[in-house]
Amino acid sequence: MREASADQCPNPLIRDFREQDLDEVVEIDKECFEELIRYDRSVFESILSEHDGNIIFYVAACNNELVGYALSIVEDNVCHLYSIAVRRMMRGRGIGSKLLIRVIDECVKRGCGTMLLEVATDNADAISFYLGHGFKIVGFIKGYYYGIKDAYVMGRILGGKRVSIHG
Ligand SMILES: CC(C)(COP(=O)(O)OP(=O)(O)OC[C@H]1O[C@@H](n2cnc3c(N)ncnc32)[C@H](O)[C@@H]1OP(=O)(O)O)[C@@H](O)C(=O)NCCC(=O)NCCS
Repeated sequence: MREASADQCPNPLIRDFREQDLDEVVEIDKECFEELIRYDRSVFESILSEHDGNIIFYVAACNNELVGYALSIVEDNVCHLYSIAVRRMMRGRGIGSKLLIRVIDECVKRGCGTMLLEVATDNADAISFYLGHGFKIVGFIKGYYYGIKDAYVMGRILGGKRVSIHG
């Protein structure tokens, strides 16, 4: 965050993504992902234009500044989490969980029975975050990231018991 400190924002607002949020979302991605893995602006733009009605996209906002986002696409009753990220200095405060749970709730409303995602096998923080939310490792894709980095596929049946979150 540039202006407010983490302590000034104990309870970020989770709201729908708006077109004018894109610059900040791209900035968050830059901060949160190494170059090989992150989406550049054009990837977000093509997801937004190609998937329009199937997208679930939330942001976490603190004093008009974005601190995180989650982006998911619904296809054939499967909710695919494309990306979730929280600015470094705001992590460990339940924001990622709030974003993920909002996405899960919306996926359930849209009739999804399953949620899937890919995560780099060396991303221990994210893997424990997902395990804490009831996901299991259900697959492995060698070279998923441009032939260089491997990924686990993690999945969760939706509608099951949810883990509790902070706040
Ligand atoms: C994954 C991510 C979104 C989690 O966001 P967050 O706001 O820190 O998550 P929360 O505070 O809601 O954490 C929820 C739980 O996840 C687990 N968790 C989160 N960060 C963790 C870490 N660094 N190490 C171990 N467990 C962690 C914990 O169980 C935590 O619960 P607890 O703090 O009550 O024990 C965040 O770490 C992030 O942006 N990472 C970089 C981007 C990324 O890798 N995204 C996933 C791509 S697949």
